[in-house]
Amino acid sequence: MQQDNKYKSLELEKPGVYELEGLEVGVTSNCNFRCSYCCAYERNDGNSISAGEVIRIIDEIPTLRRVRLSGGEVTLKYEDCEAIIAHCSAKGIATQLNTNASLLSRERIHSLQEAGLTNIHISFNFTDRDRFAAYYGIHPLVYDKIVENIRLCVEYKLETVLETLLFAETQHNMTAISERVYELGVRIHEIQNSIVMDHRGWNAIASREALVRSVEELIANRKPDTELYFTCMDRFADKLGFRDQPGVYFSHCVDGKKQLHLHGNGDILICELCHPVVIGNVYEGTSLNRIYQNRPKALEAFLKELPCPAYEALFPAGS
Ligand SMILES: C[S@@+](CC[C@H](N)C(=O)[O-])C[C@H]1O[C@@H](n2cnc3c(N)ncnc32)[C@H](O)[C@@H]1O
Ligand code: SF4
Ligand code: SF4
Repeated sequence: MQQDNKYKSLELEKPGVYELEGLEVGVTSNCNFRCSYCCAYERNDGNSISAGEVIRIIDEIPTLRRVRLSGGEVTLKYEDCEAIIAHCSAKGIATQLNTNASLLSRERIHSLQEAGLTNIHISFNFTDRDRFAAYYGIHPLVYDKIVENIRLCVEYKLETVLETLLFAETQHNMTAISERVYELGVRIHEIQNSIVMDHRGWNAIASREALVRSVEELIANRKPDTELYFTCMDRFADKLGFRDQPGVYFSHCVDGKKQLHLHGNGDILICELCHPVVIGNVYEGTSLNRIYQNRPKALEAFLKELPCPAYEALFPAGS
């Protein structure tokens, strides 16, 4: 099933040759939520990029296999997303839309499916509306709307990925969250390891013990028709005895190696989540097509050192 998922296939291969096969686009940095853990680059700085611009840039990169639309909350620019997805779909490029799902509707979900979206990826960290509302400071009815939209994604047969951030708030509840994912009809659950956000002063990441226990419990309780993807754990998976097995994948990190982030103002970042270093700007002469040949200094240094904050947080130097 998801082994054939066209979008996910890139991270199931160990990156060998470094070239641009994945592009994450911050279609807008604006968001209707205010999550404390948020990794969005310059959130709410007002920058966005039009579908026309994104399509022009995509067409200059012959090696591209997948495009992720992220932000911010990209559904604030819904029409642009739909146009980019339709264009990629016609070219055989896989797409993923990363959303909090609060602004979707039956009509939007239907047209995303018709545009050929490969994956819809929805953040899902709480099993009930009250916990959701208390954590985010958002009205509980928003949770009900998100749940309704998840069910609609399943109804329209969109490949739906629910993503749970494994952090201090969820680390004791991961199995219950996974059961709720299943109950909603979703069969792909992605577990994203939490990364410290120094610039926000947010460091409520999962402890090593909680992470190990959660991963083991999730695997032990996995339903045979469900697939688990664990993200940002590949650098220490071996060390902790985690192994891929049917239905369980410790995704390879492709950030900086095969995938870069394009911000609304044209900035190109190595990785929005953990290495938001600007290595060029598409409006100031940087060609994404040749970026791995030209290798700006910061990219060269990144590829040489391959820093990983997820690893460094769990295994501080010397441990
Ligand atoms: C920046 S959000 C943008 C998409 C959408 N607004 C959402 O929240 O799903 C993209 C993804 O980044 C993940 N993320 C945000 N902050 C993170 C952090 N500190 N560590 C790891 N992942 C994080 C979220 O879980 C989300 O799935
Ligand atoms: S919904 Fe997404 S982009 Fe918005 S604040 Fe939360 S993590 Fe950040
Ligand atoms: S380098 Fe960054 S994106 Fe890659 S696994 Fe480490 S923390 Fe995650």
